[in-house]
Amino acid sequence: MAIPAEKQFASAERQAVTHILHPLDPLTADEIEAAAAILKEASQLGPRVRFETVVLKEPDKEVVEGFSEGDPISREAFLVVLDNDREATYEATVSLNDKEVISWEHIPGVQPRIMFDEFAECETTVKSDPEFQEALRKRGISDPSLVMVDPWSAGYYGYPEEEGRRLALARNFLRSSPNDNGYARPIEGLSVLVDLNKMEVMRIDDYGVVPLPPQDGNYGAEFLDQFGGNFRQDLKPLDITQPEGSSFTVDGHRVTWQKWHLRVGFTPREGLVLHTVGYEDQGRIRPVLYRAALSDMVVPYGEPGGDHYRKNAFDAGEYGIGSLTNPLTLGCDCLGEIFYFDADLNTGSGKAFTIPNAVCMHEEDYGILWKHTDWRTGQVEVRRSRRLVISSIATVGNYEYGFFWYFYQDGTIQLEIKLTGIINTASIEQGEDPKYGSIVAPGLIGHIHQHFFNFRLDMSVDGDANTVQEVNTVAEPLGPDNPHANAFYAQATTLKSEVEAQRVIDPMSGRYWVVTNPSSANALGRPVGYKLMPGENILPFADPSASIMKRAGFMAKHLWVTPYAADELSATGSYPNQHPGGAGLPEYTKKDRNVENTDLVLWYTLGYHHVPRPEDWPVSPVGYCGFSLKPVGFFNTNPVLDVPPSAHHNGACHG
Ligand code: NI
Repeated sequence: MAIPAEKQFASAERQAVTHILHPLDPLTADEIEAAAAILKEASQLGPRVRFETVVLKEPDKEVVEGFSEGDPISREAFLVVLDNDREATYEATVSLNDKEVISWEHIPGVQPRIMFDEFAECETTVKSDPEFQEALRKRGISDPSLVMVDPWSAGYYGYPEEEGRRLALARNFLRSSPNDNGYARPIEGLSVLVDLNKMEVMRIDDYGVVPLPPQDGNYGAEFLDQFGGNFRQDLKPLDITQPEGSSFTVDGHRVTWQKWHLRVGFTPREGLVLHTVGYEDQGRIRPVLYRAALSDMVVPYGEPGGDHYRKNAFDAGEYGIGSLTNPLTLGCDCLGEIFYFDADLNTGSGKAFTIPNAVCMHEEDYGILWKHTDWRTGQVEVRRSRRLVISSIATVGNYEYGFFWYFYQDGTIQLEIKLTGIINTASIEQGEDPKYGSIVAPGLIGHIHQHFFNFRLDMSVDGDANTVQEVNTVAEPLGPDNPHANAFYAQATTLKSEVEAQRVIDPMSGRYWVVTNPSSANALGRPVGYKLMPGENILPFADPSASIMKRAGFMAKHLWVTPYAADELSATGSYPNQHPGGAGLPEYTKKDRNVENTDLVLWYTLGYHHVPRPEDWPVSPVGYCGFSLKPVGFFNTNPVLDVPPSAHHNGACHG
């Protein structure tokens, strides 16, 4: 196995942040444990209590914007607690400075996320259930020890017997050995509903036995003999070396690279969070984004049979994608001079745990930045582009999601999602032709599905008071203004209210959306702006009456705009797990508030369409989707003329 990890990782730096430098610094491990302990003591929590969330309660914007280095910092924690015995959820705020509980509230009718501890407990519960074991025996499985039980969120379908109960739907697979890829053998037709508060099997539905697929589906290096027997031999070393180190500086959670200034944060629900992103221009740091993060995501599947219609996990709101983030210590996820941020998160018992190297930061050469050859004189001017990459990767059951934020020298910010891992599989009778899926191996199918992500982008283009315009390119009608039939132009329309600002992409009109600052003009006298450039995108195929369309209403529009509200953080609301629907963006925007010339938040939905291919099995090569934020008149001219020509072994790359 030729992975030169040691070489790449030997140069990695790490910095343990143990003291608080800024009001937006995430809670430290000590603060997490202190917050949980203060709450435990004050509220006399019962013995069967789980801490879903212990995070920084982010201070008001005025506090952040008015903060100077060395100012006193007030630290508060926000906690969500589930009491399994009372079957009740509570929210609390704890002052870490005063060591006291500031607020404590019962939140009726909600279910917190499915927590990691519950994964393992659910698996044990299901595997030791006699009825489950009997159903396994019907399928020729006498030993449950190699069965994998994946607890999927149960959704909401209005079934009276499920009302008010904390549920997971167990989907089951069989390994042939401890390291075997169990997703090669889905135990089809066996649907297990688990009550997570009582931690007992509530109901088993058996939709009928389907034979287990005959083939293994392994991909690990140890299984090389199963997929060809040899690694390809023609790869020569490709080393990234930065003999003088990286060009960024890090101070606590603050990052400075080229002209970019930003802060790196992290939460168990959202994962990577970017704060106070600004670009230095003529000695002044000009704000672009106040906060940016994944707000939620959902993966609806298209198969109506058995219990497959219930497959639609919200990987942030129902599982906490941040808490499922990979430690990047042991892989080859990043190359070059790497800086890692650890993430300190809470366990279900209110202790802290650290994901070492949860966030990777490095620089990449990105081809050419700009170029021109004067063909008369032969003079060539070319500059190389470099980007700063800040990324993290999470494993949610079978799937991997990488979230990569790129910062470019020309002021562009790009978000790229890398989708990989193992597709969700089902078994099928050999010889059957599946309508709602693709055969990826004998007797094994991947159902058609979509991945929808929503990013909350709290914009601050040269300040908080912003306006969104939609720009469509239109063809001039034939007539006196268009005598040669060639005319077309870009037309900007202001989106004034929340309802007006619910939009979908239109690639044929070159549609994009610009966040402008009406009170900040560039040298050309026009309002400065940043545009949101959609990438590949799609709409959902589920009918508007489907449960998932109500529960993930954000999918219906690609763009949403809301006025800033501190408690509106997720496209699916605070508690999407088993929520009947309507929460999040559909609810926030009901009042149709003004979004013109105000502190606004842009929410961008992007859908990744996935008709599985045989090439996606047994592990999918990375698929990509994303969007960009690009300056439009934010600068007076090309902002990267000052990037120096690169040194070259035969002299400079110019002239
Ligand atoms: Ni997929």
